[in-house]
Amino acid sequence: RVISGINIMEKLQAIRGMNDILPEEALEWEYLESIFYRVVKSFGYREIRFPIVEQTQLFKRSIGAVTDIVEKEMYSFDDRNGDNVSLRPEGTAGCVRAADQHGLLYNQQQRLWYQGPMFRHERPQKGRYRQFHQFGVEAFGMSGPAIDVEVIQISAMLWKDLGLTQYLKLEINNIGSAQDRKKYAQALTAYLSGKVDELDDDARNRMHSNPMRILDSKNEAVRSALVDAPKLCDFVNQDSKTHFRKLKELLTELEVQFIENNRLVRGLDYYNNCVYEWTTDTLGAQGAVCGGGRYDGLVRQLGGRETEACGFAIGIERLVLMLRSLNKIPASALRPTDVYLVVVGGSLESEAFSVAEAIREKYPHLGVICHCAGGKFNSQMKRAYNSGARVAVVLERDGEATVPLMEGKIRSLDDGAESIVTEIDNIPEKIGKFFGNSEV
Ligand code: HAM
Repeated sequence: RVISGINIMEKLQAIRGMNDILPEEALEWEYLESIFYRVVKSFGYREIRFPIVEQTQLFKRSIGAVTDIVEKEMYSFDDRNGDNVSLRPEGTAGCVRAADQHGLLYNQQQRLWYQGPMFRHERPQKGRYRQFHQFGVEAFGMSGPAIDVEVIQISAMLWKDLGLTQYLKLEINNIGSAQDRKKYAQALTAYLSGKVDELDDDARNRMHSNPMRILDSKNEAVRSALVDAPKLCDFVNQDSKTHFRKLKELLTELEVQFIENNRLVRGLDYYNNCVYEWTTDTLGAQGAVCGGGRYDGLVRQLGGRETEACGFAIGIERLVLMLRSLNKIPASALRPTDVYLVVVGGSLESEAFSVAEAIREKYPHLGVICHCAGGKFNSQMKRAYNSGARVAVVLERDGEATVPLMEGKIRSLDDGAESIVTEIDNIPEKIGKFFGNSEV
């Protein structure tokens, strides 16, 4: 049936590159989130939440007007008032806007974290989506390399707690100040002017607007034209070099291993001095799991006062893919529930609810499902197994209620071991021995 041009019988699908996270997968996310929360809190970072939609200007002025993200990937539209707004493609810009707007950056130091969906209209593939999620941390008001190192340490601790340390490598680079890069860009443009014939359209377009982005080109011809190009490290100022040297010394003392990669420039314009990426070869083409660096100029650029800043963001989907493929998620984290109450026979609802409630009260960490929809013993047991529970509690009565139910059964769904409990009030206590001490 078609009404006003809409086929009302057609099933609607999610938008390409935007994923549903189904309950089984959500357990993997929750596991990762719980570790992330613990780690950032152990470093004294506090959560900040800011909107998904912001003025488009915010992203143009921070990420940079001549970047892939802003030029090709933003979800921008005029809202009903005619204001041009965008879905956030990353979190740093919104975090700075919010922190500055509410005075958190005025003569203060801040250690903040956030999490949430980001949107980039990229070509979807494994590990690359149009709606994806990031965990990020941002630290404000601290110069000197100690805070860069602290932020890197947070990520390193996260990998350690997730069992991923051996699969990730840290690449770092010093990209100097905005002035250094301006001089470098001029030198690069001058160099490329002699090689125009060897460049592709993309590179020719960027030669004057943002020549550094040409350094990431995947085109072989362009790459070979770049072989003798001037190097950014020759343009970096002395203060930056000192900062970077100290940062490397500190990382070495803390035994955080890193590789220097002087081709690493990152796709966002707001960085200065130290930038880095954690990459893995366990994910195929989308190997960057975390990226970050220092961005001392951004607060000022967005209208605030000069404020030093640094941070990183992690791609949650990529980390989940990694954890899953390497089998690093503990089985206990993937269990949706622990106890399933099988309720067979007439008028047992109120007994069943009180037993379930008593178990929940005694063991707040256990998940307890109370069967709700009737049915035979066998079909309920099947549901108990399918629920992932480790223990079934069976309450059963023949016929209608005449006397209160006395007896119940506890059955291990791991090995079938059973125990009869002669008074249902004792079920919560008896259930404890079906779980390890650490589980209840
Ligand atoms: P970014 O490198 O653009 O940096 O993104 C950080 C991480 O987000 C990437 O390393 C990747 O894991 C993930 N990611 C990016 N795009 C996608 C996508 N299309 N699909 C799936 N995952 C993706 C930033 O966003 C900066 N705001 C990081 C930062 C914070 N710098 C300083 N503070």
